[in-house]
Amino acid sequence: MLSLGGVVAVPTETVYGLAANAADAHAVSKIFAAKERPAENPLIVHLADVTLLDQFARIDHQWVWDCIDRFSPGPISYVLPYSGGLAPQVTAGLTTLAVRFPKHDTFQDILREGNLALAAPSANRSGRPSATTWQSVIADLDGRIDGVVCDVPCHWGLESTVIDATTDTPIILRPGAISLEQLKTVVPNAINSESNNKLQHRSPGTRFKHYQPAAKVYVIEDVASALVQFNNARCAAIGVFTAEQITAPNLVLAENCRDLSHYAQRLFEFFREADSAQCEIILCQNVPESGIGAALMDRLRRAALSELS
Ligand code: TXA
Ligand code: MG
Repeated sequence: MLSLGGVVAVPTETVYGLAANAADAHAVSKIFAAKERPAENPLIVHLADVTLLDQFARIDHQWVWDCIDRFSPGPISYVLPYSGGLAPQVTAGLTTLAVRFPKHDTFQDILREGNLALAAPSANRSGRPSATTWQSVIADLDGRIDGVVCDVPCHWGLESTVIDATTDTPIILRPGAISLEQLKTVVPNAINSESNNKLQHRSPGTRFKHYQPAAKVYVIEDVASALVQFNNARCAAIGVFTAEQITAPNLVLAENCRDLSHYAQRLFEFFREADSAQCEIILCQNVPESGIGAALMDRLRRAALSELS
């Protein structure tokens, strides 16, 4: 179906992706239409392995090879100088291309069998939380796409780390499962773009509204006290690393988390469940910003904003 120009949702180790042949302009335009995605937001291209890379992009720095050796295949995308060969919408007019080598058996099989470069954004309607289960893909995209490959919920639950790989220094454009601390073990001068707004804008996706459930999201230290404060609203709560379950009359849905990985893996699905249960407020425990905690706090902050400029 993919080699015939179809758009198919596929499981990956991060979140579900909405895949199409990246060299087929008509197929790629179907991704943008199905998601209602702004044309200015470029797509990540997924390749089975690094031997295919030089058809589309260039690596100018040794540290990029070192990171590929250490972290790929896996949940990290490299923004590289683009050398052409793909549908123009993929790069949204930029001179760079984001490339990822996914680590998911089914997705790897699809990439190898089709021998294709697959453009794949997260398989959700634009502005909605990413889909981490096939049921959520169908909830957002049923009737708009050609198929869904059904599998178990995605392992990480948050999207890949996107790094700028065009410069001397790796810059994290979007935090993800590969943390700054891990990157620094390979390239000690790696930095986060978060503190610098100019750098943020090198990743167009950060400008758009994202990750938002219908309920209002609050990221807080003390979930139990907030429940009392919102006693007239239907609430949902996630995080809360205590053994005992929190309870309150207005608490409709709650998920205590074993650890940060559990929190990350369940977050987007929890947002969707809270919306289905018609919660008005979602209370999210804040977490320390190390390891995957940085990616988690990034998504929580975006979900908590009513609008990004
Ligand atoms: O884990 C993931 O990365 C998932 C799975 C399906 O691979 N994909 C994903 O794609 O999250 P998407 O389109 O939802 O997010 C891609 C992000 C966007 O913020 C986009 O702006 C940024 O990557 N991006 C894509 N190409 C870029 C480029 N050439 N330069 C800078 N940022 C880029
Ligand atoms: Mg997305």
